[in-house]
Amino acid sequence: MTDPVPLTERLQKLGLPFTVLSAVFVADTLHATLLTPALLYPIAVLVTVDIDDPAVPRLIAAVGSALTVIGRFVPRPEALPTIDLANRVMSVVALWATAALVLHMSRFQRKLRKGEAIAEQAQVLRVQTQQRLELSLHELHDMKFALDQSCIVSITDVTGAITYVNERFCDVSGYARDELLGQNHRMINSGLHTPDFFATLWNVVSHGGIWRGEVRNRSKYNTFWWADTTIVPVLEADGTPKQYVAIRSNITARKDVEERLRDQASLAKLGAMASVIAHEVRNPLAGVSGAMQVLRSRMAAESEEWMIIGDVLERVDQLNASLSDLLIYARPQPLHKAPTNLRQLLDDVVDASAADPRFAGVAITAEGSNSMCTVDANLVRGAVFNLALNAAQALKGRGRIRLIKECNGHNCTIRVQDDGPGIDKAVLERMFEPFFTTKSRGTGLGLSIVKRVVEQHGGEIRVECPATGGTVVHLVFPL
Ligand SMILES: Nc1ncnc2c1ncn2[C@@H]1O[C@H](COP(=O)(O)OP(=O)(O)OP(=O)(O)O)[C@@H](O)[C@H]1O
Ligand SMILES: [Mg+2]
Repeated sequence: MTDPVPLTERLQKLGLPFTVLSAVFVADTLHATLLTPALLYPIAVLVTVDIDDPAVPRLIAAVGSALTVIGRFVPRPEALPTIDLANRVMSVVALWATAALVLHMSRFQRKLRKGEAIAEQAQVLRVQTQQRLELSLHELHDMKFALDQSCIVSITDVTGAITYVNERFCDVSGYARDELLGQNHRMINSGLHTPDFFATLWNVVSHGGIWRGEVRNRSKYNTFWWADTTIVPVLEADGTPKQYVAIRSNITARKDVEERLRDQASLAKLGAMASVIAHEVRNPLAGVSGAMQVLRSRMAAESEEWMIIGDVLERVDQLNASLSDLLIYARPQPLHKAPTNLRQLLDDVVDASAADPRFAGVAITAEGSNSMCTVDANLVRGAVFNLALNAAQALKGRGRIRLIKECNGHNCTIRVQDDGPGIDKAVLERMFEPFFTTKSRGTGLGLSIVKRVVEQHGGEIRVECPATGGTVVHLVFPL
């Protein structure tokens, strides 16, 4: 629909066509030739072609037709009535044909203008959409930047294969991006959580739910890091997940503090108990041992009584050793760290074991280059000796123990490796519990003490039973 054209504007537009009409009418009244000037009236219609008003060409054609008819009755000399009549009929026909042509052209022009307006509008819309898209992308980029700065982010596909990791994920896990992409998320599994734990997690996210929890992960350098984790599934239009976004924050420090506080609370209780034992049991035990030795010295050597007292003395020594372990465990000593040659430390353990009857029949060797690591040498030496003793006890007087030292840019590892029977799964799960032992004369504190010494150094202990047999205990000390 076109807007109605105001009357004044219409009159202005009529100026030129009417001038033409008037000129042709004057010429028509003056001349009478073979071609009458009335044939020129269509020019008046033609000049309306630019006037965007369909009424105008029709009006001019109507007025032109009327003037053509009027012109017929104006008396002129030498007029040939028949030719003049034919000319006028032609003029009227030409007038209305021209009007039809002009109307058609006007319509075509209008359509053209409409098309141009639509194209212009489309262009404006395109520019606006582009601007909005750029704005959204910019905002998205800002949000991603903020997320990457504050969180550890990874994305996996529905099979659990890693498709994206941010810089912080690489930093905390120790892996380069290339080492992670395409791998299954299981590669950072620390082995702490049960299969049920992960089954519940997958059950929640695979049904479109958001899972939150605290997860312990393993780094490339075999250290653990705890993460407060939120896993958000990204859903397809039909509601099925197409990928999972995991947003984590590192809570390792908090977890360490929590664990230390827990340990300290139970140690405080144990410490109080140990003090009582030390006073009430150890001192009388020393008296008993002394008295027994005096009695024994008065007996005939190799007599039955002499042998029995010898047995009692051995048990008293064992009890004393157990009490010493308990006191060491219950009252942790502060570390006295100093640069230590770990290879030398392993050699010391080999020398000490050579002089110890509990290592009889066992071949023990030290391996690795000389290199320095800042540790409490006495405590670490005691820990390695403890592990070597466990290995010797497992070997039952036959086999080989290797003490191996390896360092990389991040940490130093001491491996105590034996070719004994290995360790049952049930024992593996409990062996670090204080007082857990499978030996008739063990206190079950050996590994607990070793673990604490390593953790006091900020390191960690791991036990492996390779398929090829035997046991390997890793002590990892950060550099
Ligand atoms: N190298 C090993 N091979 C096989 N079993 C081992 C080995 N090291 C440790 N174990 C198992 O782990 C258990 C716990 O060891 P841990 O050193 O804490 O206590 P223990 O040796 O039994 O007693 P303690 O060291 O206090 O005298 C052992 O009883 C043993 O069953
Ligand atoms: Mg032991």
